[in-house]
Amino acid sequence: MNTSLQGFGLGLRTEHYADFRARPAGEWGVDWLEIISENYLVPGGPPLAHLDAIRRDTPMVMHGVSLAIGSADPLNQGYLRELRQLIARVQPAWVSDHLCWTGVDHRNLHDLLPLPYTEAALRHVAERVLQVQDILGRRLVLENVSSYVAWAADEMGEAEFIGELLQRADCELLLDVNNVYVSAVNHGFDARAYIDAIPPQRVRQVHLAGHEVTDEGLIDTHDHPVCDAVWDLYRHTVQRLGAVPTMIERDDRIPPLTELVAELDTARRIATEALQTSEAQA
Ligand SMILES: [Fe+2]
Repeated sequence: MNTSLQGFGLGLRTEHYADFRARPAGEWGVDWLEIISENYLVPGGPPLAHLDAIRRDTPMVMHGVSLAIGSADPLNQGYLRELRQLIARVQPAWVSDHLCWTGVDHRNLHDLLPLPYTEAALRHVAERVLQVQDILGRRLVLENVSSYVAWAADEMGEAEFIGELLQRADCELLLDVNNVYVSAVNHGFDARAYIDAIPPQRVRQVHLAGHEVTDEGLIDTHDHPVCDAVWDLYRHTVQRLGAVPTMIERDDRIPPLTELVAELDTARRIATEALQTSEAQA
C-alpha cells in the first residue's frame, strides 16, 4: 500500500471537474485529491470518465460515507464488493470512512451518528474493522465525527475510545480538526487535550472545514471557510503530530477553485510555522 502521500489536498467536487481537466491538480497547487467513493460506485457514465481523466495526473485518496462501521446490522457485502472494484480502479493511497453508525435494521438515517463510548461498542467496532480490513486487503482509516448529543451510557471519552480502537483493530485515523472543535464546544471538553490523547503515529490524514454557529451550538456544515479557532487547533495538531497530509473539505456553497487553493495555502503556511516552532522547542 502506498501511504507515502504527503502534502495538501482538496476534495474533488463536480464544480471543479473542468478546472482539473484543463490543468492537473499539481499546477493549481493541490498535491492530491480526495474523492467521495459513493459518487463513483456506478458502472460507466460521466462521473467515472472525469475521475479516470483526472486520476491520470493526480494522486487520490478515497473517502466513504456508507460503511456504517458502528452499526448493529451485518456488514454490507455488496457495498464492500463495489468499493473493492473502485479501489482497484483508483489505486488510492488510502481508504477512509467514518467512525459512526448511520442506521439500523437496514434503514439509513442519512446522518453520521456517534457511538456510545463503551467497552461493548469498542469490541463490536474493532471486530468489524478487522473484517473490513480483511475484505479490502488494506488498513482502514476512520474519521472522528462531530456530535451534538452524547450517550448517558458512555464509559470513556471519545479520544480514549478512538485510541483503543486504533490499537486493537490496527487501523488508522482521519483526524477532522473541525469536528474535534465542534464537539469540544458542544460538549464542553478540551479540544487540545483530545488531540494530545491521540497516538500520533496512527494519524493518516487531517480534515479541515468550516462550521455554522447557532444559538443551540456549532453545526458541522462544511459551507464556510475554516475559522480562526480551528486554525489555532490545527497549529497545535501539527506541533503535536508533525507533518501530516491535510485537506480542506467544502461540501456546500462551493467557491471557485482559486479560493480553496488560497485557503489551502493558509494551511501550508500554518503547518510550516508549526513545524518550525516545534523543532525550535525540541
Ligand atoms: Fe471530515
